[in-house]
Amino acid sequence: MADLEKMTEAEAANRLMRLAREIRRHDAAYHDRDSPEISDADYDALVAENRAIEAKFPHLVREDSPSRRVGHTPSSPLSKVTHARPMLSLDNAFEAGDVRDFVGRVRRFLKLEPDAAVMLTAEPKIDGLSCSLRYEGGALVLAATRGDGSVGEDVTANARTIADIPKEIAGAPDVLEVRGEVYMSTADFAALNARQEKAGEKIFANPRNAAAGSFRQKDAEVTRARPLRFFAHGWGEISQLPCDTQSGMVAWLKDKGFPVDPMFTTCEGAEAALAHYDAIQAARPDLGYEIDGVVYKVDRLDWQERLGQVARAPRWALAHKFPAEQAETVLEAIDVQVGRTGKLTPVGRLKPIGVGGVIVSNVTLHNFDEIDRLGVRPGDKVRVQRAGDVIPQIVDNLSPHEGRAPYPRPDHCPVCESEARSEEGEVDIRCEGGLICPAQRYERLKHFVSRGAMDVDGLGEKSIAEFLELGWIEKPSDIFTLHEHREALMAREGWKETSVDKMLAAVDARRGFDAARFLFGLGIRHVGAVTARDLMKAFGTVEALMDVARSDGALTELTNVDGVGEVVAQAVIDFFHEPHNVEEVTRLIERARPAAYVVETVDSDWAGKTIVFTGKLEAVSRDEAKAQAERLGAKAAGSVSSKTDLLVAGPGAGSKLKRAQELGVRTMTEEEWLAEVAKA
Ligand code: IVH
Repeated sequence: MADLEKMTEAEAANRLMRLAREIRRHDAAYHDRDSPEISDADYDALVAENRAIEAKFPHLVREDSPSRRVGHTPSSPLSKVTHARPMLSLDNAFEAGDVRDFVGRVRRFLKLEPDAAVMLTAEPKIDGLSCSLRYEGGALVLAATRGDGSVGEDVTANARTIADIPKEIAGAPDVLEVRGEVYMSTADFAALNARQEKAGEKIFANPRNAAAGSFRQKDAEVTRARPLRFFAHGWGEISQLPCDTQSGMVAWLKDKGFPVDPMFTTCEGAEAALAHYDAIQAARPDLGYEIDGVVYKVDRLDWQERLGQVARAPRWALAHKFPAEQAETVLEAIDVQVGRTGKLTPVGRLKPIGVGGVIVSNVTLHNFDEIDRLGVRPGDKVRVQRAGDVIPQIVDNLSPHEGRAPYPRPDHCPVCESEARSEEGEVDIRCEGGLICPAQRYERLKHFVSRGAMDVDGLGEKSIAEFLELGWIEKPSDIFTLHEHREALMAREGWKETSVDKMLAAVDARRGFDAARFLFGLGIRHVGAVTARDLMKAFGTVEALMDVARSDGALTELTNVDGVGEVVAQAVIDFFHEPHNVEEVTRLIERARPAAYVVETVDSDWAGKTIVFTGKLEAVSRDEAKAQAERLGAKAAGSVSSKTDLLVAGPGAGSKLKRAQELGVRTMTEEEWLAEVAKA
């Protein structure tokens, strides 16, 4: 922060303008795109700086100042809901003194004696997103996100998919709004990201963003597939209060079936509250979900009522935030790791150090520009932070580092020595070795047999590692020669004749498999499952695609394909210009003989029609149903509109079915659909 003491009025006005703009940008990155660009601690520092300048220059507070907004007005397609009672935010405290001051303010406001007992509740501040659940006559009728505190988004269908949230409650007042946090456990977050990565989908930065991205979905079926959880911590409108304390209410909510945080407790006064803060902080690494502080609330509800609120935060509550977990250590080395697509990522090796209860010995440096930004070199003393997003990072270089030259970029892959390059305007440097690079091999083999690609059931990560180690497989084409090792494999520990034959049969079953999945399995940059299908629809076979990619007019021909832009086209061209790749793909085609991708346009009543599938399909997978539609000459679409001709709805169909009924779109069950397919 610039020196506030010496700041002139003009400088303050300028800085406030910049802060308003910067904070708004970070709000949008965080809330709309679930992709924060800075850590929570850095964000909090910007907000604190804004507040400090405004306190010194109150006449300069801007109309659009971040201090005048509670949250962020969402720009999403979910419909808006006005809260019956605003959803408030909390004042933040960072030090023990702030907590003592808080209790002092409460006493003064209520005109209590300076040493009067003030009972507080203390509980973890869950790093999730707040949600208000409205029950009428005991039935869940509306769920809404906080939004800007006054207007949130309607997420009723999404909330209904979360097991932790009761859909009906017995013996409830006529109107009851329960408020709490929707969150994702750290284990579920890690598993979700692993699945996302395998499927070539977006990776979430932290559990909070994963929870937000999963919850604020237009299609509640997406939410259903995500492991979301809920903790209740308060209420909004309520027709009759059953208790007269915060702790009584929390116990009552628990009794009604709402999960409440097991570390919720009551404490008398600031010192007891601070002791519980320490206990929560000590338990933090083992909770299994992320928290970013402790919330204290005045226990007596009549006192809460009298205390009321200032701006958008109650006087009766306080959030005591944890400091970002940081520690100082020595950067011992900078290594370079190679990912599946050949991306070279510098990794910092540290002298191992405990940060917030976890021993950290590696940090990601993201890319080589980041090394220059920090000006680090092996041997430097650095400050390391483990923020909400689990992957530790270096936040500061404590050694002198002014005027250092840029860190040398690798021009060869450290593993296979192929050339390494970055594309124009891109920071990432990639190994061009493709399928021959050993580091990429393992990742690529895993991808080739993964579910979205060749789906070789029975050939898991462990077996791949084992066969790689034995030198039996190196590249995808070797998978189709595994039968040569049948006898040797049966003699190995952990394998039996049945398991070996099952695995070999699974490999055999993939000869003559779908060309689009085969193409996706090659792991060409930017060619995901959908693009692979688009390419195969246009060219029919991988050989034909390879010929086009190596011809003179490749770029024009490829970009003519529906769904293929210049970036994808260039990636395909680059891939097929690497001789190792051509060699391997040719061998792979010989061995796996992928079937030409034909969209049989059998004569059917559905030719030219648009079909949407929703709900849980039981006999066929969603992909297969779409392929069936394509075979009948129809187009499978993702959302229902006036252009939809048919909706096939399985059990659990929700908003799409409702929309189809509103629009008068014909609907049928999966069984009826399969009868149509059989007829054609
Ligand atoms: S009480 C009027 N308790 O933190 C008080 N909030 O920064 C309303 N939060 O919008 C909130 N854990 O989404 C409360 N145990 C907890 C909480 C909690 C997380 C969130 C909540 C609120 C935000 C304010």
